[in-house]
Order: sequence, then structure tokens, then C-alpha cells
Amino acid sequence: MAEADVKRGPGRGKFITFEGGEGSGKSTQIKMLAQRLEAAGVPNIATREPGGSPGAEIIRHLLLSGVGKLLGPEAETLLFAAARDDHVRTVILPALNQGTWVLCDRFFDSTRAYQGSLGQVSPDILNALQRVTIGDLKPDLTIILDVPVEVGMRRAAVRRGSGSADRFESEDMSFHEGLRAAYRKIAADDPKRCVLIDATADADSVGQAVWSAVREHLATVTAASPA
Ligand code: TYD
Repeated sequence: MAEADVKRGPGRGKFITFEGGEGSGKSTQIKMLAQRLEAAGVPNIATREPGGSPGAEIIRHLLLSGVGKLLGPEAETLLFAAARDDHVRTVILPALNQGTWVLCDRFFDSTRAYQGSLGQVSPDILNALQRVTIGDLKPDLTIILDVPVEVGMRRAAVRRGSGSADRFESEDMSFHEGLRAAYRKIAADDPKRCVLIDATADADSVGQAVWSAVREHLATVTAASPA
């Protein structure tokens, strides 16, 4: 992605990413925020990683099948980066440049947490890939949904039903504890961009907390917007 591709200024849409461990409720919260923005007259799209564009969805399929694990942590990280590059160029940037807000289920903090903190891929590699794929397209706001591991795993199991666990869901409890700690550290290290929200409560209460964070951080959604 070239720096020149990133349009700046008031006409640009806001970029909000959602992060958290398995079963933290990101997709429900993204839907609720999209509806609130819609009601406030803010054009928005919801998308996800890995995936979100036709090319990246093909790579998603590979990644969640577990092929990446066989290739090793660095190569798996390259696959996430390749998917992100396509998604940013073909979906995220064009939308933001048009003034549309982008709500993205996972973004580079997932790479930092899963491949960096847990996969032990070096910061040098992650920084280099970040430069290539997103340049300085940082999210305007990152909502990190925090739930105790047992709660998240239980929710993920209910959602899955009789289907089998994917590549990351099938990691053990200590992996998921490490993941939670990694996200809490990301939030603590970048408090201007990140808001850590306790997502143990019911979806409506969490939704209110998300909406408050959006209104506090992104002043363009006015106080007059529906609650
Ligand atoms: P998904 O089914 O979308 O899971 P979730 O509902 O938890 O978001 O699967 C995406 C998986 O990919 C998830 O376990 C996290 C992992 N992932 C990474 O390891 N690195 C990344 O950079 C991204 C975007 C996702």
C-alpha cells in the first residue's frame, strides 16, 4: 500500500477495529454498532480479518484449515499479512476515502497478540510486515472486548454447536490465558487508540459501553445521536 493512497482530513471515514479472544462477542457488537451508526446517519461497512475481500477470503480458508500451522509461525504470519494487504487495498482504503466508516472484526492487533506474543514471531518481522501492508493506516479506535477465558470458550463452544474447533479455537487454556494478557497489554500500551471493555455482561450492556467509547473518542458522532 502506498502512503499516497491514504486520504486525510474531515471527509475521511473513521476506522474502528474490534479485538478480543475467542467468544468475546465481537461480531454481535459490530452488528449493534453498525445499526447505531446507521440510525445516526453515518455510512458504514462491517468487514473482518482474515478475509473481507475475495482474495483474502481464499487465504482465510487456508489459515483456518490449519495449513499455516504446518508451515510454521513466520510463514503463517506472511499469509495473514498477504490477506491484510489485499483487504486494505481493495476494501478498507476505498471505503475510508469515500467517507464511509469501516468496522473491522480483527486487524493488526490480532497479529501482534496471536503471532507475536503467542507465536513468538519477532517484532522486527511484525513491524516490517505492518509497514508494507498498512503503512500508517492505524485504526482511529480499537475496542478490545475482554472476557475471562472460561466464559469465552463456553460461548465459542455454544456458537460452534456440533461443528469442529478451528485452528485457534483448538489451542489449550494456557494459550487463551496468554492471549487475554497480550490484549490487556496492547490496551495499556496504547490508551489513546484502545479502549478495553469488560464483555462479560449481556450484549446490550456491552453495546452501550461500546457506543459510549465511540462517542467519546470520535467526536463527529454528535451527542444528539440516538442512545
Ligand atoms: P474467526 O473465525 O474469524 O474467529 P473469531 O470469531 O475469534 O474472530 O477466526 C479468525 C482466527 O484467526 C482467530 O482465531 C484469530 C486468528 N488471527 C490471527 O491469528 N492473526 C491475525 O492477524 C488475524 C486477523 C486473526
